[in-house]
Amino acid sequence: MDQPVEGFSKLSKEEKIDWIAHRYTANPEATVALLEQYWNSDKQLQQLHDEFIENTLTNFYLPLGVAPNFRINGKLYAIPMAIEESSVVAAASKAAKFWLERGGFRAEVLGTEKIGQVHFLYFGDPGQLIEFVEGIQPVFRADAQGLTANMEKRGGGIRSIELRDKTTDIKGYYQLHCAFETLDAMGANFINSCLEQFAATLVREAGKFAPFAELDPPIEVLMSILSNYVPNCLVRAEVSCPVADLEAESGISGADFARKMVQAVAVANSEPYRAVTHNKGIMNGVDAVVLATGNDFRAIEAGVHAYASRSGRYRSLSQAEVSDGIFRFWMDIPLALGTVGGLTGLHPLVRVAHEILQKPSAPELMQIVAVAGLAQNFAALRSLVTVGIQRGHMKMHLLNILNQLSATRQEKETLIDHFKTHTVTHNAVVKALEANRALK
Ligand code: MEV
Repeated sequence: MDQPVEGFSKLSKEEKIDWIAHRYTANPEATVALLEQYWNSDKQLQQLHDEFIENTLTNFYLPLGVAPNFRINGKLYAIPMAIEESSVVAAASKAAKFWLERGGFRAEVLGTEKIGQVHFLYFGDPGQLIEFVEGIQPVFRADAQGLTANMEKRGGGIRSIELRDKTTDIKGYYQLHCAFETLDAMGANFINSCLEQFAATLVREAGKFAPFAELDPPIEVLMSILSNYVPNCLVRAEVSCPVADLEAESGISGADFARKMVQAVAVANSEPYRAVTHNKGIMNGVDAVVLATGNDFRAIEAGVHAYASRSGRYRSLSQAEVSDGIFRFWMDIPLALGTVGGLTGLHPLVRVAHEILQKPSAPELMQIVAVAGLAQNFAALRSLVTVGIQRGHMKMHLLNILNQLSATRQEKETLIDHFKTHTVTHNAVVKALEANRALK
């Protein structure tokens, strides 16, 4: 019978690989060789990566590419992107170039507020709780002084600690809903440490508050944790140009193109099935830069999709309009990002990504990431409402198909040339490769 493994995390990396390969794979020797092939030859660098998580076996590569020619608020950027989907970087580069010739992107940070909550239970008189929390506001801040001093010196820190009554949802449930400014840090550790201190202060002070004397315990803390929903940590990215300037190689007039773009966004605004895919396209750009710059893409994803649902229905993140002959395409998106702390100083490739971006502040990175998302959305909609998505996708996917078919370099060159004038499908590539091989 299958037995669970004991003390796996205490095994050496080699022992773990050996155990996994023999237990779960058909050809253990080949598995071991493959996993080891992906180790870095620099032992120190490999150790750094091994220690990011527990039970590391090897490295999992994603391509790190770059999309140049992004003009954002007048400054030119090359944007690093870590992503496996073949068409994303190409689409970003194309959109960057398109807008470079039309004034570039504008971006503006609308807010940088981060949120954390202490969730607790209290079954006494609500008025007494309000009085109690008001009374200990200075104590919360004084107790957290050791944690906040450095952040405060730089202009950040705790912004507010608000009592919220949630008892209509759950009996006895209240929150301390807290707002923070964490400057260039994403701030998760700072916020969570502050919240755990607030929780300790809450419980300790409640024990001393005379009107709670009859309650045992007066307050029970359930949990203290930051929220990844950050609707006030918001950035706007936009592009605009005269409709006539949209006349492009898409084969339709600028006016028709603008109209179809506006309608495509309207569809995504009204139809959740379409909105999810529309926003997924935005996240192709967002996640790739978030990952390359060492930020937490799961946090960003969770927060963005919650924001897209804030009206009660899941909607498009981006908006489009034509007004007085001007096409405008824009998006507000919540992005809690950091340019210091976490992986940013630790992962050598993340450090290079920040250097390529000319060491942005967190607000500047918010602008860059939002622009990458908007560019991606523009590129996708542009294809969708004109030539369709598959032409560009399959063109970029061609190399993947050729690699699957073990094409040689020479064959790749010949077939890439051939498919400049032919439609790429898996079958067409197989046939063309066979035909090419038959000629030899
Ligand atoms: C594919 O990764 C993304 C798209 O489906 C986005 C969209 O449909 O808008 C092309």
